[in-house]
Amino acid sequence: MRPFKSLIAAEQLTPDVIAQLFKAIDQMAEQIAEHGRIDLLEDKVVALLFFEPSSRTMMSFQSASQRLKAGMVFAQNASSTSFEKGESLEDLIRMVESYSDIIVMRHAMPGSAQIAAQTSSVPFINAGDGGNEHPTQALIDVYTLNKHKGRLSDLNIVFGFDSLQSRSIHSLSRLLAQYPNNRFIFTGPTELQPSKEMLDDLQALGAKCEVTQEIDLRDNVDVAYINRLQEERFSDAQIFEQNRRRFRLDRASVEGSNCIVMDPLPRIDEIDVEVDDLPNAVYFEQASYGVPVRMALLAMLLNKL
Ligand code: NCD
Repeated sequence: MRPFKSLIAAEQLTPDVIAQLFKAIDQMAEQIAEHGRIDLLEDKVVALLFFEPSSRTMMSFQSASQRLKAGMVFAQNASSTSFEKGESLEDLIRMVESYSDIIVMRHAMPGSAQIAAQTSSVPFINAGDGGNEHPTQALIDVYTLNKHKGRLSDLNIVFGFDSLQSRSIHSLSRLLAQYPNNRFIFTGPTELQPSKEMLDDLQALGAKCEVTQEIDLRDNVDVAYINRLQEERFSDAQIFEQNRRRFRLDRASVEGSNCIVMDPLPRIDEIDVEVDDLPNAVYFEQASYGVPVRMALLAMLLNKL
């Protein structure tokens, strides 16, 4: 039985659910290597609604659906749908649920995933709701992290450089706070550090949290999780311009450390390309897990695991 009908937030990805999903992801990766495509969802249709820009998330959901032989229906931006005419999200979902067996949606409004999941009679997956959450990315991230470090507890993790607005950082820190003895070190411009609410929430779950401007990756750091400044979410464009190159991971700061460097991508200014060929850099590998991860999630929510 699936643990929940819809995936809205990373808090639903408890250690038990993660353990179940990791097995399924490994199996999906094996199936891809052996057969390319499998028949698991040949009787299903996946709706992909992407009302904000996306490359990796959209294409890996497409690829995952293709590899499971599901059919697909798409809506790719708000201006090509009836949103432009003023249709509500609820009405849109009521229509799409009759065209599909599961709905995947990215939407600019924080909280839109909750509304859509409540409205939908079919399972729903949040592929990013504004600056709020991105739980499927968090699943990719912990899968990658576990491959490299062999554990999801007892970790020192640096998060940068826009913890205030990065939905990937929100979801990953929330997920990892459920595991024991994790320490989070948030770094970046003062204006872009996590909100008090976020820090309280993580600390209440047992994670140790620090906020700093100075980091040394050789100082016992296991993971540097770096995400670009979220340009499209700044209310003041000047704050973005002032800070976009102030924090940047370069080769000298990474070389010789035991720390893996992760990034949900796209990479803009936050990591120098010279970091790419260091063994620490795992961000392109991380992106490659998007397909088996999303295959496992689609299969789980459609009761096929
Ligand atoms: C992230 C997102 O959309 O939030 N990208 C992704 O899904 N891989 C990160 C980002 O856009 O900065």
